[in-house]
Amino acid sequence: MSLLVTPERAAELKAGAKDIPVYDLSPGQTDWLELLMQGAVGEKNLNRVFSGLPEEPKLALRDAEGVILAIVDQSTSSGLEGLEIPTRYDSLEFRFSPSDTPPFGGENVGVFFRSGVDGAMVSEVQEWLSGGEKRSVTLFLPASTTESGDFPHLPLQGELCKVLEEFSGHNVRLIVVPFPGDLPESGWLPLEEEIIEKFGCTSAPGNWSAFREAGKVSSGAADPSVAGFTVFFTGLSGSGKSTVARHLQVKLLERGCRSVSLLDGDLVRQHLSSELGFSKEHRDINIRRIGYVASEVTKHGGAAVCCPIAPYNSTRQAVRAMIEPLGGFVLVHISTPVEVCEARDRKGLYAKARAGIIKEFTGISDPYETPEDADLSINTEEVSAADAADRVIELLEERGYFSEA
Ligand code: ADX
Repeated sequence: MSLLVTPERAAELKAGAKDIPVYDLSPGQTDWLELLMQGAVGEKNLNRVFSGLPEEPKLALRDAEGVILAIVDQSTSSGLEGLEIPTRYDSLEFRFSPSDTPPFGGENVGVFFRSGVDGAMVSEVQEWLSGGEKRSVTLFLPASTTESGDFPHLPLQGELCKVLEEFSGHNVRLIVVPFPGDLPESGWLPLEEEIIEKFGCTSAPGNWSAFREAGKVSSGAADPSVAGFTVFFTGLSGSGKSTVARHLQVKLLERGCRSVSLLDGDLVRQHLSSELGFSKEHRDINIRRIGYVASEVTKHGGAAVCCPIAPYNSTRQAVRAMIEPLGGFVLVHISTPVEVCEARDRKGLYAKARAGIIKEFTGISDPYETPEDADLSINTEEVSAADAADRVIELLEERGYFSEA
């Protein structure tokens, strides 16, 4: 029986849902739930949704938008009643369940693509389809719900649409299926095979797995010369971070290869974090916001230059971990000693900190954890700001972030 209840039952369940505790599904759980409700996988997979749920006799499961998708009810036979399929915004013309996908008749080959494969696999399919006899093929494209709301499968979908057009004389169709993005790689093939079977197809010839491996694009930003990157300066107030960052901004713009977003500590505090103070908690929130904006810039191929104090190691590392999968990340410690910063005291803040007028002042009455994972460390007492910026450029060059042109 389908896990998806009738609309009447759904309305009844929804009306009763206000009295039961709610649980927000992870992206992966949302994908499993959709597969289950569509009948694209068997009910033995229900534990994929159940694991990690709090133990409650009843629980309302919500998607990221807060919509109740299902009710867990231990007194029902399957333990779950599905109210509705998650709302999707992408690939709508290719989303089907097995029950609304009538078989082509005859042998029906299912080919499962993976987001992150390059054109090699698409060409292989094209070659196979051109092989003479008329074939019935269902191309499966996995689409994962992502934390960021991105749709990484869409470029490949574009490629596959071309195949549909080219071979319109064959029985070729494309089905976009939810696919839990957090599933370990060892679980991909069994799940692919189960989905293929539920849609009434037989798996593609075995030799396809070989070219699939060959066609796999390595994770992360493949080619640094076109990838985005973040240069993250850290150091005390008055150490010279902003000055070096400004020089770097100009030098990057002169090279003309990327747009540059400068996320200066003081400006961020004005525009993005104006409600925050300088407690550890608030500094962490501030740095994570900067990291998030920098990750978006990096993802879209730009250069983000950040220059907050960022006094805590763990927070800096969290930002690195967030950005590295999307592009480059370079941590530059501006290591000008506190005595020098204090002697410069360009903003008069050290004097105020010494007088106790400003509390929790980094380097005076608040900690600064020296980074141990800095990619570069520069003391502006010894190196001019322009030269410091050149060192960063050299490092980026070494790492391949500028093409040879
Ligand atoms: S961070 O710790 O959250 O990274 P951020 O770089 O945004 O700090 O802000 C630091 C700037 O705020 C300093 O350059 C200084 O001008 C100002 N400031 C005001 N109060 C403090 C304080 N208690 N500690 C450090 N900087 C402060």
